Amino acid sequence: MTQGWKKSDWRAKPRVQMPDYLDAPALNAVEAQLAKYPPLVFAGEARRLKKQLGLASEGKAFLLQGGDCAESFSEFSADNIRDTFRVMLQMAVVLTYGAKVPVVKVGRMAGQFAKPRSTPTEVVDGVEYASYRGDIINGFEATMESRIPDPKRMLQAYTQAAASLNLLRAFSTGGFADIHRVHSWTLGFAEHDKAERYRELSNRISDALDFMQAAGVDSTTAHQLSQVDFYTSHESLLLEYEEALCRIDSISGKPVAGSGHMIWIGDRTRQPDGAHVEFARGVLNPIGLKCGPSTTAEDLKVLMAKLNPENEAGRLTLIARFGAGKVGDHLPRLIKTVEQEGAKVLWSCDPMHGNTIKSASGYKTRPFESVLREVREFFAIHKAEGTIPGGVHFEMTGKDVTECTGGLRDVTDENLSDRYHTACDPRLNASQALELAFLVAEELSRTRADEHRVAM
Ligand code: PEP
Ligand code: CO
Repeated sequence: MTQGWKKSDWRAKPRVQMPDYLDAPALNAVEAQLAKYPPLVFAGEARRLKKQLGLASEGKAFLLQGGDCAESFSEFSADNIRDTFRVMLQMAVVLTYGAKVPVVKVGRMAGQFAKPRSTPTEVVDGVEYASYRGDIINGFEATMESRIPDPKRMLQAYTQAAASLNLLRAFSTGGFADIHRVHSWTLGFAEHDKAERYRELSNRISDALDFMQAAGVDSTTAHQLSQVDFYTSHESLLLEYEEALCRIDSISGKPVAGSGHMIWIGDRTRQPDGAHVEFARGVLNPIGLKCGPSTTAEDLKVLMAKLNPENEAGRLTLIARFGAGKVGDHLPRLIKTVEQEGAKVLWSCDPMHGNTIKSASGYKTRPFESVLREVREFFAIHKAEGTIPGGVHFEMTGKDVTECTGGLRDVTDENLSDRYHTACDPRLNASQALELAFLVAEELSRTRADEHRVAM
């Protein structure tokens, strides 16, 4: 990475969306403690993920990134981790079938605790409080006390991330991820009255598995069918935490963010001369960069040069999040910039963050139709530009929450209050997430069919 870079250099840069800790000695003590703890991930894993994302940028793999908007201390449980992991595996099988390439699975998990906010304060029941910034920073409860940033929360976040990752690693290799089991859950989903459209594809997957089994390829003979690689990611927002977990990779001698395999820079913290870009540019991990309507071609050029000076495939994922109906206004100009620069990037689509609305009942929600429409626009524009739609990025959970409207079980405005549990933005529930995977798989198989036609 960059010569002469130090993990504390971000401190000299303008910072936004970070808390002002009032108790400096308490902050320093937490940082010193975290700096002594083991990293959560190993540099070799981050390098392997980077290779796989490099393949996705060439259309030889496909990225599925998903999980909570904000992980929380109160929702932390084995069941929640298992259920999100399970639906991501189901989605991955469906997407693999549609894309006919390996699906790279990356959770917004085991570290996704810090949130950028649109305003520094918020009014709850007529009283103004400092905004909630995620459990790693302050408390969700609307009291003056709980909204004071508390550095000790970083230690709890670290512990939760370590335990989450431990369970994810066990699930990945311990038998839970067996493709036959995963697919049997999907067959259950496809039995729903309104899931007729998805039944055919899921039956085709069953046939493919049966055929392989008959040919002697099953979980007992091929570990690829019984185990998965699963990676973690989060927004690299709280830089004190990131710096304290930054380590030197003993193999390459380069700095690595030890807090997760992939980190990303949010739409509100991507100032080319800001603290967040400064930190991310120095670590060897794959980096995500959110691109929204206000991303200019000029900024993107500078950011690509800073974040990926060696133009390494898999290093930089551009996560487009414009909103349904707006992709056409922005994505083509950014694709042109990337092409003009000859930059190697992986294009991924986040159809969540540009599609948040306030429902009539007052809840923040996202209509399933808008989410799907943005994904379709993303695919159509890449097709028109001759570039590669290489991944998707969802806020989702494995639980049956009612936070986004629509989908085949048709969550309505009136239902939102039933099970609205998110600590921040509305998430797709398990059924909506899987349904979306089927619809993305249809897009991917169309893309493949087009490629075949061109090749013939
Ligand atoms: C997020 O991914 O949770 C987020 C805040 O996204 P963005 O930075 O794109 O708004
Ligand atoms: Co969010």
